[in-house]
Amino acid sequence: MNCNIAVIKGDGIGPEVVTQAMKVLDAVGEKFGHTFNYEQLLMGGCSIDACGVPLTDEAVARAKASDAVLLGSIGGNTSTSPWYKLPPEKRPEAGLLKIRKELGLFANLRPANLYEQLKGACPLKEEIADRGFDMMIMRELTGGLYFGARETKEVDGVMTAVDTLTYNENEIRRIAIKGFDIAMKRRKKVTSVDKANVLDSSRLWRKIVEEVAKNYPEVTYEHMLVDNCAMQLVKDPAQFDVVLTENMFGDILSDEASMITGSIGMLASASLNETKFGMYEPSGGSAPDIAGQDKANPIATILSAAMMLRYTFDLDKEADAIENAVKQVLVDGFRTCDIVSEGTTLVGCNEMGDKIVERI
Ligand code: NAD
Ligand code: IPM
Ligand code: MN
Repeated sequence: MNCNIAVIKGDGIGPEVVTQAMKVLDAVGEKFGHTFNYEQLLMGGCSIDACGVPLTDEAVARAKASDAVLLGSIGGNTSTSPWYKLPPEKRPEAGLLKIRKELGLFANLRPANLYEQLKGACPLKEEIADRGFDMMIMRELTGGLYFGARETKEVDGVMTAVDTLTYNENEIRRIAIKGFDIAMKRRKKVTSVDKANVLDSSRLWRKIVEEVAKNYPEVTYEHMLVDNCAMQLVKDPAQFDVVLTENMFGDILSDEASMITGSIGMLASASLNETKFGMYEPSGGSAPDIAGQDKANPIATILSAAMMLRYTFDLDKEADAIENAVKQVLVDGFRTCDIVSEGTTLVGCNEMGDKIVERI
């Protein structure tokens, strides 16, 4: 198969982790007889520096013309980087929001599961970690607070900022359908997370999820308030299968879920539209505190590349090969600094990439 991949390395650790994922893809290509063609595009701070904007229309067009996008991460230290002196629409994050919107990537899948070998890296009580967990966070990605009307202005001499949380029923229905579809391929349980005791948008969310659920009689579903969900994630993560939620709640809950897998450096993601197209990226950020030091954990990005093979290219056994190589590297005791523990071997980002390549 010939696969045309737009590669956006981005900022901070982005280039380091994406380079490892490309190495792994090339190893898969060699073993299984596929060609991965890469076209590198700029987005984020590096695009601001080179082009004056976080994402050019040309880059969007090139991304659209590709089969899939592999992304690292964008942004810098939001307190100290000069990028954050720019108006919000010119900052690195505006590029990420623009590409998600332009490509229609409304469904963000973030699988959080605890590897047997990382039970010791899980910060939960031993008896909870021992039970393990395997959930798919299904985050709505192109609506809600991130894309609502916003304004900062003076009202009666007082500085006032407004962000608007808007969802229409169609936006809710399409993500709910994706959530239930995914649940049908898993353990057939959906937990829809909202704040329906306070927010109108959540009450509409609940109503539409209930309508969609009627078409999936085999799926058990429940509603859970987001504050309770944040608590349940640390109390009993094994109860979750598909966690279906809106944009901002999904952002926050997925970082929480990442940590109980051992590290944000383990959490892959796929952002999908209605077609086979997708953008694949680690769930974490550009990690400015460790950027350029060969310390980052590349596994989230490598597992995101596996999701790309599975969801965009239907290359299931190739995706399995990557996931098994990751498992094997953990079995063999290699760890980056975020998940290292007594009795394991500390490796850098590049060496972790090499170890995974050796196991493809
Ligand atoms: P972050 O996820 O970049 O970092 C939080 C902590 O996790 C840091 O201590 C970092 O070192 C660690 N970490 C993250 N990824 C890691 C990895 N692969 N291996 C080891 N450790 C890792 O979050 P932040 O510091 O809040 O944000 C930094 C910048 O990243 C901001 O500009 C933010 O907007 C941006 N960001 C981008 C994306 C994205 O591109 N998708 C996602 C989240 C944050
Ligand atoms: C993520 C990030 C982004 C988000 C930021 C960088 C805009 O945190 O992908 O989780 O909030 O969606
Ligand atoms: Mn986030």
